Amino acid sequence: MSDGTDPNAVGHKNPVTAIITAISDMFSEKGQINPMGDDERLDGKTAMVTGSNTGLGKAIAIDLVRRGAHVIMACRSGHPEAGEDVKRKSGSDKVTMLKVDLSDLDSASALCDTLRDRSIKLDITIFNAGLMPLKARKGAQGYEVMFMVHFLANRLMVERLTRDGVIAANTDNPPRIVFVSSESHRSSGPINFDKFGDFIDYGLKDGMGQYGYTKLHLCTFATELARRTNGIEVHSLCPGPVASDIAREAPGWIKIIVNPIMRLAFHAPDKATEPVMLLAAGQAMAGRTGVYLHMMREKAVSPSAADPENGRQLWDKSGELIEEWLQEIS
Ligand SMILES: NC(=O)c1ccc[n+]([C@@H]2O[C@H](COP(=O)([O-])OP(=O)(O)OC[C@H]3O[C@@H](n4cnc5c(N)ncnc54)[C@H](OP(=O)(O)O)[C@@H]3O)[C@@H](O)[C@H]2O)c1
Repeated sequence: MSDGTDPNAVGHKNPVTAIITAISDMFSEKGQINPMGDDERLDGKTAMVTGSNTGLGKAIAIDLVRRGAHVIMACRSGHPEAGEDVKRKSGSDKVTMLKVDLSDLDSASALCDTLRDRSIKLDITIFNAGLMPLKARKGAQGYEVMFMVHFLANRLMVERLTRDGVIAANTDNPPRIVFVSSESHRSSGPINFDKFGDFIDYGLKDGMGQYGYTKLHLCTFATELARRTNGIEVHSLCPGPVASDIAREAPGWIKIIVNPIMRLAFHAPDKATEPVMLLAAGQAMAGRTGVYLHMMREKAVSPSAADPENGRQLWDKSGELIEEWLQEIS
């Protein structure tokens, strides 16, 4: 059981122990930090949330808009009904929906073009989109789809948005970037830099392993980005177990088991927003960078994600994979 920033606090050997730890952490008060105050307003701020047509992302969008922010919902599906629902539930029409498929670098790049061409300046950027496929499949450029959505598309978008000034470094009033990751990054083996980005085939049994492996890429990237940036605050988190549609591809017999557990034991999406909102906009986090939260507890990312040499290699190797999409703008 974890209780703070000790890097060895959670030593998950596999996803099962990760889930057991996560559920037991949900019911423990130890080490909990306070959520963002209800009175903390975001009037005049612009935020973007990927994968915000459903689940956690949609609940984040509603909270941001309710607090006065203008929110760009960057989504693959749900156009326009998810945006209309966010407007209804937040009582504000400061919502723009933009299309993106994060399993396609052309689509991620096109979203960046749109943001640049509309002269949008993001104060808050939340990379939330995620998935758990039933079996391995390829995205548009042939990479495994979780590698794309959890990591590579985010890597490209951060590079594009910072180069284009959509996310503009400002030491007086730093914009914030938040990555929604997972504690499962701890159960992953190390990143294989000799086969970086190679397609990995998996089925139902190994899917959770690949999920943790791609979230390790994301936590390593978040940590490295925080090290490399000045004037932008960068954080990552695990929201804990969320009663969402993340297991939508699971076979019917698994859903029969998992869905009641989700409804009974997992946090509703509007409760699971707390760590995301605190990192994205909470006054209590002002002036900090590189924070990782597991629900409402601050922890260190895994030693592998924190390792500067891993961060450097991930940065360089992924830079090579996205180079083609950066040349177009230089
Ligand atoms: N649920 C949990 O227990 C849990 C635990 C730890 C971490 N997380 C993380 O929390 C985040 C939110 O997940 P959730 O639980 O809210 O799941 P969810 O309800 O399934 O929402 C996932 C979102 O990601 C979007 N997405 C997936 N593939 C995409 C793509 N190729 N392009 C653009 N958007 C894409 C989905 O869009 P579509 O509707 O178009 O597919 C959806 O909006 C994820 O990063 C997940 O890994 C969840």
